[in-house]
Amino acid sequence: MGKAAVVMAGGHGHNSYKHNSKYQRTRCATTTDMVKEVIHQKLEIPTEAATISVADLGCAVGPNTFHSIQTVVDAMNAKIKRSSSHQVGAFEFQVFFNDQIGNDFNTLFESLPPNRQYFVAAVPGSFYSRLFPPNSIHYFNSSLALHWLSRAPSGLVNKGRVHCHGGGAEAVAAYGVQFRADIAAFLEARAVELVRGGLLVMLFVCRHEWMEPDAPRYDMWFAHIESILRELVAEGEAREEDLDSFQLPIYSPTVGEFREVVEINGSYAIHVAEKVDEGWASNGVGKEQEDRRKPDLDELARDMSRATRAVFEDIVGDHFGKDVAGEVFRRLPETVYQFFLAQPTMPTLPPTAFFVLQKKC
Ligand SMILES: C[S@@+](CC[C@H](N)C(=O)[O-])C[C@H]1O[C@@H](n2cnc3c(N)ncnc32)[C@H](O)[C@@H]1O
Repeated sequence: MGKAAVVMAGGHGHNSYKHNSKYQRTRCATTTDMVKEVIHQKLEIPTEAATISVADLGCAVGPNTFHSIQTVVDAMNAKIKRSSSHQVGAFEFQVFFNDQIGNDFNTLFESLPPNRQYFVAAVPGSFYSRLFPPNSIHYFNSSLALHWLSRAPSGLVNKGRVHCHGGGAEAVAAYGVQFRADIAAFLEARAVELVRGGLLVMLFVCRHEWMEPDAPRYDMWFAHIESILRELVAEGEAREEDLDSFQLPIYSPTVGEFREVVEINGSYAIHVAEKVDEGWASNGVGKEQEDRRKPDLDELARDMSRATRAVFEDIVGDHFGKDVAGEVFRRLPETVYQFFLAQPTMPTLPPTAFFVLQKKC
């Protein structure tokens, strides 16, 4: 069994996360105005000259993290400029980039924006544990990372499936238990690390309320990975026991499920808790079949497959070996293309949820 921690494809190459993360970037951009507004309305800037500490949890290798951080720093500077009680220039920004230890921090730091107005440091380690001293961070951001669990649920028998999707009640329950334990630990750690009045801003992949947690989710793309792995097992190219012991540590909660864990924690005021992006061509209302031309769909399938590969190649390769992973991602564009062709309307991307929490005073 592999390490079961995910890292995005590093480096600067064709298959890297750096060059295949525009879908994530587009989704983060949907919250830019809300982030500015919440900093303007809610963030308490210290009255004395100070260092303002910001951390991005699950930053990957860029460039998306730099966009998120720039929005935050610009909004904080704008707030300082507008305020009569703050002296412009008296504040400096320290930004901490956090991700798993295996993340390609070298590529991240090689790509830092040259004209940034903030100091930088890496903080490697899981955000499900403590990462910072008490009362030291003014603003936490986490974009499209919190749907990754700390690990797959232990002891689950879910033969031939890589996830609770399609796995039935037992698999759903096991994933739900892991999700609640992880988010509880995450919120507890951040509540210690935030200064009073500090903000915790999160965007993550979620689930529509009308979706059963075990409904097969082609919008999550790994349903395609699962079907290819089954093919490879049937062809004798991958081992059945490897498939049976592989569970992706991902859970996409509803807004209500996530909110419940926040309320149980009790340390935060909830300013925003909502679905902000219903997914591309939301609820299956997409381009009609007749609008779809082969080259478009072919290119889209390739593009989405590269994006999927940049996220999942490491975790699949770690468990099944590099050759099997290579074959999975070689077959993926055609599998996705055939899937597109078979749909009466364009399929959706999963929705995203946006939460803004403030540590209670
Ligand atoms: C899809 S990427 C998103 C990266 C970036 N925030 C963006 O918007 O493009 C998710 C990132 O979360 C990181 N991640 C997942 N679980 C983590 C954990 N427990 N602790 C720290 N980072 C984690 C992954 O390594 C990955 O880099």
